[in-house]
Amino acid sequence: MLSVESHPENARFVEQWSGEQHLRCMERNDSLHWIVEDAGVPIGYAILQGADDPGHSVLLRRIAIAGKGRGHGRGAMTLLARYCFDILRFHRLWLYVALGNRRARRLYDRLGFVEEGVARECVREGDGYASMAVLSMLEREYRQTLDARRRVQPGSGADTRGYR
Ligand SMILES: CC(C)(COP(=O)(O)OP(=O)(O)OC[C@H]1O[C@@H](n2cnc3c(N)ncnc32)[C@H](O)[C@@H]1OP(=O)(O)O)[C@@H](O)C(=O)NCCC(=O)NCCS
Repeated sequence: MLSVESHPENARFVEQWSGEQHLRCMERNDSLHWIVEDAGVPIGYAILQGADDPGHSVLLRRIAIAGKGRGHGRGAMTLLARYCFDILRFHRLWLYVALGNRRARRLYDRLGFVEEGVARECVREGDGYASMAVLSMLEREYRQTLDARRRVQPGSGADTRGYR
C-alpha cells in the first residue's frame, strides 16, 4: 500500500499515510481496506470509510492502482460497487476527486457517478488548498446502469462498457 501510494504517478492524487495511519484506519469499525490483486499479485488498494453511517452513505476514501490504463481500476471499482450495493446494502457511494485528475474522473464518469458539486479548497496542496469534485452513485442508479447493460444486445452498437 505504501509503495503504491507514494509512487510518483499516484502521490499527487492521493493522501500520503504512514504504515501506522493505515493500521489505525484498519482497526476502525467503520473502515474497510481492500487489496486489489491481478492473478494473485497485489497491484493496489482501496479504502472505504463510514460504513456505520446512519444514512447508509459510504465514502470511497481512496483507491490507487499500480500500472495504469489496463482496466484494473475499472475492474476494482466494479467489484467495490457490487460489494457496497449488493452485499453491504448501502444507499450511496461517494468520493472526492481532484479537479485535475482526468484519469480517475473518466473512470468514475464511465461507471455512472454523478457530480454533486465542488468542495472548495478542502484539502491542503503545497502552501495552499485544492478544490475537489464530490461524486456519488445511489443504489438505484447502480441498478439502472446494470439493467441498461443487460438490455444491450450484442451488435447493437450501444455502449456496453462500465459494469459487467
Ligand atoms: C484512478 C485509477 C484508480 C484508475 O485505475 P486504472 O487501472 O489506471 O484505470 P483503467 O485502466 O480502468 O481506466 C480508467 C479509464 O481512464 C481512461 N484513461 C486512462 N488514462 C487516461 C488519461 N491520462 N486521461 C484520461 N483518461 C484516461 C481509460 O481509457 C479508462 O477509460 P475508458 O474505460 O473509457 O477507456 C488509477 O489510475 C490510479 O491509481 N490513479 C492514481 C490515484 C488516484 O487518482 N486515485 C483516485 C483518487 S479519487
